[in-house]
Amino acid sequence: MAEPWHSCITQELEQLEALMDRSLDSENPELSEMCRYVIGAGGKRLRPSMCLLAYFACGGKDASIPISIGAGFEIIHSATLVHDDINDQGEVRRGRKALHRQYATSKAIIAGDFMFAMGFKLLADAAPHIVNYIVDASAAMGAGEFVQKDFEHRSSVTEGDYLRIIDHKTAKLFEASIKSGAAVAGADVEVLESLGQFGQAIGSAFQIVDDALDVTGDPHQTGKAIGTDLIEGKPTLPVIYAMQDPKLGDEIRAIFETEQPTEDDVVKALGLIQRTDAIQRCLSLADGMAHDAVACLDILPDSVYKSAFVDVADYVIRRTR
Ligand code: IPE
Ligand code: IPE
Ligand code: MG
Ligand code: MG
Repeated sequence: MAEPWHSCITQELEQLEALMDRSLDSENPELSEMCRYVIGAGGKRLRPSMCLLAYFACGGKDASIPISIGAGFEIIHSATLVHDDINDQGEVRRGRKALHRQYATSKAIIAGDFMFAMGFKLLADAAPHIVNYIVDASAAMGAGEFVQKDFEHRSSVTEGDYLRIIDHKTAKLFEASIKSGAAVAGADVEVLESLGQFGQAIGSAFQIVDDALDVTGDPHQTGKAIGTDLIEGKPTLPVIYAMQDPKLGDEIRAIFETEQPTEDDVVKALGLIQRTDAIQRCLSLADGMAHDAVACLDILPDSVYKSAFVDVADYVIRRTR
């Protein structure tokens, strides 16, 4: 489905799809099939879109470079989802059975590794001088996921802890994809910094909304189940805020601290969270972040690409998928 910001980069996104498909060829037909199963399921293509928009907004002319870089980012992002679903016991992804459920966990781990390698290759071949952006973002992602693991079922986790985790596990990749697009277009340092800040704020807002959708989302739209974060005991912002509720907080805390909550516990906790102001507080924080992000775009000259960035910011806080 075309997202609102796609219209000015439709052709480039089509070429990016074709490139991702070609890049996932391997000597082993099953391995190629597994990678294509993941990529072929679609996805919002937000990270490559950010890369393309940044490139064109900064005056870039040769689309083939950001197409390769964007394809690299999307393949790396998709690889993290394959591994994430194994860790989070995710059953459904992008409206399909998660890769490890459709095939086997051992093979899904390897397919994820293969996708990481192919994503890095695309980036390194197209623009070796910006490979450090993705290296740093991937390292940060790993570090963020690690800290998140240590905080599972721990009700002492604070909003500050959460914001640091999501900055690492999600926002850094958004930041890297946008900065990569701007850098290969020859943007100067101030523009790089401002667009990096835009990516970081949008990435954090995006993850906050993702965490809210884990409570209130419609699986037919998000393409994944709800309640997964609660089952895993993930310290997400909706839970952190809900535990602060003077009336319902204690009950929510007790379920969150339970190592292996039952399905009934999870359904109950989801209901309780929705009776607090937690979701509204999350969405209003994400809203403020998106608003601040848009201010970072002032440094760009007006263009359809700049407007598309505003559409991205708007979409990220209103999205239901
Ligand atoms: C899911 O990312 C992982 C998070 C950072 C929350 P997306 O919601 O961008 O997933 P796709 O690529 O559109 O499927
Ligand atoms: C994002 O977190 C995962 C990565 C940054 C790899 P989630 O675990 O919330 O993502 P979903 O909800 O499974 O897509
Ligand atoms: Mg997950
Ligand atoms: Mg999630």
